[in-house]
Amino acid sequence: MPYTRHMLETRRVVAIINQKGGVGKTTTTANLGAALARAGVRTCLVDLDPQAHLSLHLGVRPGPDDPTVYDMLLDESVTAIDAAVEVEPGLDLIPAETDLAAAETDLATIPDKQSRLRRMLEKSGDRWGAILIDCPPSLGVLTINALGAATEVFVPMQAHFLALQGVGKLLETVGLVCAGVNPSLQVSGIVLCMHETQTTLAREVVEDLQAFLESSSTQDVPWRTCRVLSPPIRRNIKLAESPSFGQSIFAYDPTCRGASDYAALAESVIAMWRSPASEVEVKVDATSSQGADSIG
Ligand SMILES: Nc1ncnc2c1ncn2[C@@H]1O[C@H](COP(=O)(O)OP(=O)(O)O)[C@@H](O)[C@H]1O
Ligand SMILES: [Mg+2]
Repeated sequence: MPYTRHMLETRRVVAIINQKGGVGKTTTTANLGAALARAGVRTCLVDLDPQAHLSLHLGVRPGPDDPTVYDMLLDESVTAIDAAVEVEPGLDLIPAETDLAAAETDLATIPDKQSRLRRMLEKSGDRWGAILIDCPPSLGVLTINALGAATEVFVPMQAHFLALQGVGKLLETVGLVCAGVNPSLQVSGIVLCMHETQTTLAREVVEDLQAFLESSSTQDVPWRTCRVLSPPIRRNIKLAESPSFGQSIFAYDPTCRGASDYAALAESVIAMWRSPASEVEVKVDATSSQGADSIG
């Protein structure tokens, strides 16, 4: 399948955020990314969580001399393209190691510490049609870098009791941060993870969420265009197994429900990105062809 950077008019940089752990951020980054790549969008994943779960999930353990996201953030001479490793056709990963935890303090001395990631990703030109950033479950300087680099935010969540309260708080925090570092940033989608389609509780939480988003659509807030992305990702044991094998769900078991849910999610994300209403500001620089034709 050809990897057509022209399929999307604009390059999308998505920060995948929720301050709660265990809600499906890493699983969504890995498998939505793999699904986008399979649908023809050349995609780069950035592991911005010092736990390095995304890198482990995709079977990448950087050796002592391999550049990681830490090097890219702190060493001007290491580019995103240098640090990226191809994990599947059309899917690259900028990996992390646990030394990324030190970046919180090491970045402190750098003047552009909040916009470092943005600048380094901008230098990669139009190599990737989509970049997904897996964020840590905290609002430190790494997450602020992700919000500074992103064109939009996806929030994975579980439809649990009190989940809506957490999401409301998260959206407010994102709103405050973006007013400072990235005023055009939009929260564009909620991804329902480990979804229990049959339970009344999940249905009620989703209804409340829809009503909340509906009421925000007329307000001047960064989540006014936010929608619940479809389909929800159902709970599927294969999604929990695949990280142990260092594989995306498509490499591990392409016929399972987890794979079909993430493939359908990628289709609806691409459709949202191609609809004129969702056009965002960052235009791909059409004059740069850096690396655009090679996939391996
Ligand atoms: N749809 C799903 N079905 C079953 N297990 C899932 C699903 N999504 C995530 N998991 C599992 O739930 C745990 C938490 O998910 P993870 O993506 O690591 O969350 P986060 O990155 O937000 O901490 C992991 O063990 C993961 O394998
Ligand atoms: Mg994670």
